[in-house]
Amino acid sequence: MSEANNSKGFETLCIHGGHVAESNRAHLTPIYATSTYTFDTAEQGIAVFKNEEKGYIYGRFGNPTINEVEDKIAMLEAYGLKNEDGSPLQLKAILHASGMAAITTMLLGNLKAGDMIITHKSLYGGTQEMIDKILPNLDIETVIVDFHDLNLVAETIKANASIRMMYIETPANPTLQCVDMEQLAALGKQHDLIVCADNTFATPYLQQPFKYAVDFVMHSTTKFLNGHGTAVGGILIGRDQEKMNTTVTKAHRLLGGNSNAFEAFLLNNGLRTFSLRMERHCSNAEKVANFLAQHPAIKTVNYLGLSSHPDHAICKKQMKHAGAVLSFELKGGFEAGVAFMNKLKLCINAVSLGTCDTLLSHPASTTHVGVPRDKRIEFGITDGLIRMSVGIETVDDIINDLTQALQ
Ligand SMILES: Cc1ncc(COP(=O)(O)O)c(C=O)c1O
Repeated sequence: MSEANNSKGFETLCIHGGHVAESNRAHLTPIYATSTYTFDTAEQGIAVFKNEEKGYIYGRFGNPTINEVEDKIAMLEAYGLKNEDGSPLQLKAILHASGMAAITTMLLGNLKAGDMIITHKSLYGGTQEMIDKILPNLDIETVIVDFHDLNLVAETIKANASIRMMYIETPANPTLQCVDMEQLAALGKQHDLIVCADNTFATPYLQQPFKYAVDFVMHSTTKFLNGHGTAVGGILIGRDQEKMNTTVTKAHRLLGGNSNAFEAFLLNNGLRTFSLRMERHCSNAEKVANFLAQHPAIKTVNYLGLSSHPDHAICKKQMKHAGAVLSFELKGGFEAGVAFMNKLKLCINAVSLGTCDTLLSHPASTTHVGVPRDKRIEFGITDGLIRMSVGIETVDDIINDLTQALQ
């Protein structure tokens, strides 16, 4: 649980947040490579099991290395936020093996057969597949509407008493669609829905969903939070401590999507420079987007920081900066996309995002190669579309590499 989060600065929390002094006086919390924990007496074991005494029980339930990073991220998401009575907001976070594991715990820990989800188009592909292919087997259906049309959202909720959850992903992967979290979450609460938001692209550095009536936030920590591409991970953060400590914890433990000490250590280490990295990611991305927008080989640039992006105003309203992910459409279509990727020398051809190095991918020839062309284009994944996660290298080097690859 995040404690005393409002008395320290964001950068300080990135470094010290969640740290508990260790009995051997190790500077950094070690990698606790243990699957279980011991009890001095049977009575102590009983007290820990009954939650009357603090203590670790079993590796799937918790671990000190994991605990530190959970508390740190909870503090960052709660940073500067207050409850209605003015007290600092405290959140509870649970680290998972992946972003998908965190999303799964959130969904299955809150929904039952017969419930429905309302969400929008253009979710991360894994989440979309989860709601298309796994949840219907459990009799959990999803209705997809345009979240820019609040009247339509309200009408759809009113017309369907089974809707229990509103699922938001903003900015969304890969289209960068942004939706208005404040208005959507308020609408969700008016209808007593569970409101959740995937904050992977923005991170708490750029956007804090708990400022609004959001109940749960999920991240793929694999991306900007880790920042170095060293570990896959995910985190689920909740506002309602009681619910987090009971039903959600139960779902996490029984679904078995727990993280491990080594990857938690890597994530924690990455977070120590999170704020500095984000600052540079954002300023580099802005310069790269402006460069691309002027380039004759490029048809369009999708970057939330450009006034040409349809969701520029929503981004300005709820995000501190437009972030470091963008996409652009090459005039030459599919062939130009393949040729461009082959010419890159510094920037890296890889899916994923949020690492120190600049990553680019050509979805039409990689992640979406198996999707029929008409469907892919309907999702906004056109033939010459390149997705780019701008890294923290010297920005001129990134721009020089793009320049030679675009020739
Ligand atoms: C927005 C978003 N949410 C969730 C995920 C899933 O995360 P992971 O790959 O860590 O399971 C991703 C992965 O790319 C993502 O981009």
